[in-house]
Amino acid sequence: MQKKLILIDCDPGCDDALALLLAFANEELRIKGITVSAGNVHINNTTENARKITGYFRKEIPVSKGCEKPMFRNIVTASEVHGESGIGKVVLKNTDKKIEEKNAMEFIAEVLKKTEEKVTVVITGPMTNIAVFLISYPELKNKIEKFVIMGGSSIGGNVTPSAEFNIYVDAEAADIVFKSGIDIVLCPLDVTMKAYITEEDLEDIKNIGNYASEIAYGAIKNSLEFYKEFYNTNKVPMHDPCTIAYLLNSEIFKGNEAFVGVELKGKYTYGETIIDYRNKLGKNKNALVLNEIDREKFVEMLKKAIKSI
Ligand code: RIB
Ligand code: CA
Repeated sequence: MQKKLILIDCDPGCDDALALLLAFANEELRIKGITVSAGNVHINNTTENARKITGYFRKEIPVSKGCEKPMFRNIVTASEVHGESGIGKVVLKNTDKKIEEKNAMEFIAEVLKKTEEKVTVVITGPMTNIAVFLISYPELKNKIEKFVIMGGSSIGGNVTPSAEFNIYVDAEAADIVFKSGIDIVLCPLDVTMKAYITEEDLEDIKNIGNYASEIAYGAIKNSLEFYKEFYNTNKVPMHDPCTIAYLLNSEIFKGNEAFVGVELKGKYTYGETIIDYRNKLGKNKNALVLNEIDREKFVEMLKKAIKSI
């Protein structure tokens, strides 16, 4: 199978950490770099988490720090979900891996200029870095194969009644990405809430007993406490790993082509994604929106990756 060239823009983040482990464990993904966004926690913490996880498992992959805040708004974080560190109570092993001198936007430009083939860009956090890149280097848009994005929702929000976190933090950035004309595969809450880990799955992951399982268990356990308290459920959705799982085996998903737009002006609806499944607006269908998943196969992929990394 031809290897897919990818870049991952993330805000680790408990579920971002699982997405990185899933990507790092699968050699068919040729990861050209990790760029880090501000979102779940402050940029310094998300960057440190990305540096340590990458430094331990795939030290050769460059990590580059992105924007400290959204394009126009103040940063909104989710430390109540991910803990102050961003990875719950997990103590990540240190590493002497260094962060790239170039910032995320310059790093992405360097990668796209150097590679012959097009690169798929995975986004699992607020889209500030990618929007700023698109504005700064429009001539490099044609080097992006597609975006695979965790974000948005047509089933209600998780930050406000209508907005999902990754969009809400920087809706203007998301608007730029959705209007870029680049192919998009979107993993909204419609599908990621179905991609959940049960307490039984969590025990299986804990019993794998390696460092990756320590990270995965700690990250999921942290989220479990949050979901039990605020959603009254013991099913922990694995939002961000859906993006990587799609690249590894798109067959476990179902979705629909649809227009996706972002609300920027609503007093109560800022950051809401309008996913026009029934084409009521008659606008160009700019995304493949995933909304079904074979959960068992997804969880098996995660467990296999944790065992093998
Ligand atoms: O709404 C879920 C998304 O917000 C995930 O990417 C999670 O990591 C947070 O960034
Ligand atoms: Ca994330």
